[in-house]
Amino acid sequence: MAKENKFYVTTPIYYVTAKPHLGTLYSTVLADIAARWNQIAGKKTFFLTGTDEHGQKVEQAAIAAGKDPKKFVDSFIPAYKDLWKEYELDFNYFIRTTDPDHVKAVQKWITLLIEKGDIYKSKYQGLYCSPCETFVTEKDAVVDCGKFLCPDCKRECTFVEEESYFFRLSAYQDKILKFFEENPNFITPKDRINEVISFVKSGLKDLSVSRTTVKWGVPFPNDPNHVAYVWLDALSNYITAIGFGKEGQEKEFDFWWPADLQILGKDIVRFHAVYWLAFLMATDLPLPKKMLVHGWIRVNKQKMSKSFGNVIDPKDLLDKYGAEPVRYYLARKIAVTQDSEFSIEDLEKTISADLANELGNLLNRMTTLAFKNELQVVCAPNIWSESAMELRQECWDTIEEVELHMQDYMFHMAYARLWKLVNKANAYFHSQEPWKLARTEKEAFNECISCICHVLRAVAIILWPVMPKKMEQLLQSLGIQFELSKNLLQELSEDVWNTEFKLMKIDNLFEKYDIQEVAVENKEILNSVEQKIENYIQIDDFAKIDLLVGTILECEIVEGSDKLLKMQVDFGEKGKRQIFAGVKKFYSPTELIGKQGVFVANLKPRKIMGMESQGMMLFAESEDGKLQMTTISGLVPNGTKLR
Ligand code: MSP
Repeated sequence: MAKENKFYVTTPIYYVTAKPHLGTLYSTVLADIAARWNQIAGKKTFFLTGTDEHGQKVEQAAIAAGKDPKKFVDSFIPAYKDLWKEYELDFNYFIRTTDPDHVKAVQKWITLLIEKGDIYKSKYQGLYCSPCETFVTEKDAVVDCGKFLCPDCKRECTFVEEESYFFRLSAYQDKILKFFEENPNFITPKDRINEVISFVKSGLKDLSVSRTTVKWGVPFPNDPNHVAYVWLDALSNYITAIGFGKEGQEKEFDFWWPADLQILGKDIVRFHAVYWLAFLMATDLPLPKKMLVHGWIRVNKQKMSKSFGNVIDPKDLLDKYGAEPVRYYLARKIAVTQDSEFSIEDLEKTISADLANELGNLLNRMTTLAFKNELQVVCAPNIWSESAMELRQECWDTIEEVELHMQDYMFHMAYARLWKLVNKANAYFHSQEPWKLARTEKEAFNECISCICHVLRAVAIILWPVMPKKMEQLLQSLGIQFELSKNLLQELSEDVWNTEFKLMKIDNLFEKYDIQEVAVENKEILNSVEQKIENYIQIDDFAKIDLLVGTILECEIVEGSDKLLKMQVDFGEKGKRQIFAGVKKFYSPTELIGKQGVFVANLKPRKIMGMESQGMMLFAESEDGKLQMTTISGLVPNGTKLR
């Protein structure tokens, strides 16, 4: 197979001082999606992940746990491997830096660096941050009450004085700068490259690459009193895993290296974009093609960490929501290159709205209607009507645009674009009123069903990298067996919409959740209206809700939002309120001004785009998907309570 038809993707290897968390899951999910995306583009892929098991941090954690370091690290491995499998992370290889094969290969690599003359022995005297496993200069340290704190994690550094081997990093300063100059798109997002450039320009000092006071590591070749600095050991995993330094695996290594994509969090850019590149340059190995640096997942507005007590255990999410909906949420709602807030409410809303209401429902309604009307084998019409052709064009445009976003690894943008297609398909389905066509116009009915089948097939293939099992089921319900052997994306973009589908009924693909926090956006209203009544409430509970009649005095579009309208509502003696409603696509402001509607008036105020919403207007969804406002049949005084 030609080299351009391969795709090698890596994640950072994770420290085994704790179980996996949502942040490490996120990096790994992105890598899995990237690998699968390339699979549907007909490429042969290699997806590498694993664990970083040596170094002072792990040594200290093992001592604190009263365990031998190897037994200590071993105890975490099932938590990783099992969880990754449960999340359908289809890695080709899980490397552990304690693997004897890796240890031998690192020693070979260090020997090569020594032979090239880039390693020399000297003495290190300075600060070390063990949580970050990094040497800190006094100039960079934060001084607090006479203590030196790490500039990154703000924990106290220790003073270290020991004999050490050094890598001539300073010799690579110009080469690295030249490389960035020639490859300005090497790092995504671009602004990260500027940070790295200014770090390199500030002057690279030679790097200490061995420790004598740490025992838990790879012994230096011919000098076992020294163990390799943990980052030297860890970074090399990206080459040792695919055969570097292993006899008989040269061909395999040459095939896979360089990596096509290295995924990492923003905390470890310097190690990858400076040290790693310099090590590779020193050993004359090609450099990776791309680094994707993602932001933090934050919980309660802070980076997830044990000390803030805001760590989300991916196992809990898996048990409650299932792997694939969580994967979808991470891909769709976390903006890859930015810090993003994670909340259970948003997760539940996204699963309920996007997956259950919009995608799942479309499939259900279409198949139910088709079966009810004995349409099981759906043929494509010879000539498509205009509205179907519009949707077909939208489908083709979507494929093209999604591919462009995926080439840039902007997963969230790709899947947001895909959702526009899902929404348009829903709108088309409602506007065609196929339940009426079934009785009167069989051909038009058949065309509508066929049109939805074609869209759903495209959606399922594009979504397969995110939700492989669910999308295979979806395809099965259209009578399609998912097969990876071909370039499915090319097939999709060349598809002329002439497929015959053999429909099959399947169980609901997605669940809906009880959304706790009712907000103004239409989807949220929709969800809350559509919840199944499982728990009856007492009349006193109902009395707690202030449902008031109010007149909309003013209404305007909210700049920068494609959903929101901002209203000033008069509740008579109860005053005036500012209320937002996510109904811009259904109502123009002038249609609402002067109307009397029903509002929840004692809902806790919420900030929306920096402004306060002091209530919620009630709407109901009509068959065509439009949100209809609720009104009172006769005029009543503003502020009247519903009972
Ligand atoms: N062992 C080093 C990496 C060596 S790679 C040769 C390390 N490990 S780590 O366990 O601390 O994991 C770091 C990676 O986990 C981050 O770079 C990032 O990819 C991911 N995340 C950890 N916390 C995160 C968030 N809160 N949000 C998103 N990702 C985060 O550093």
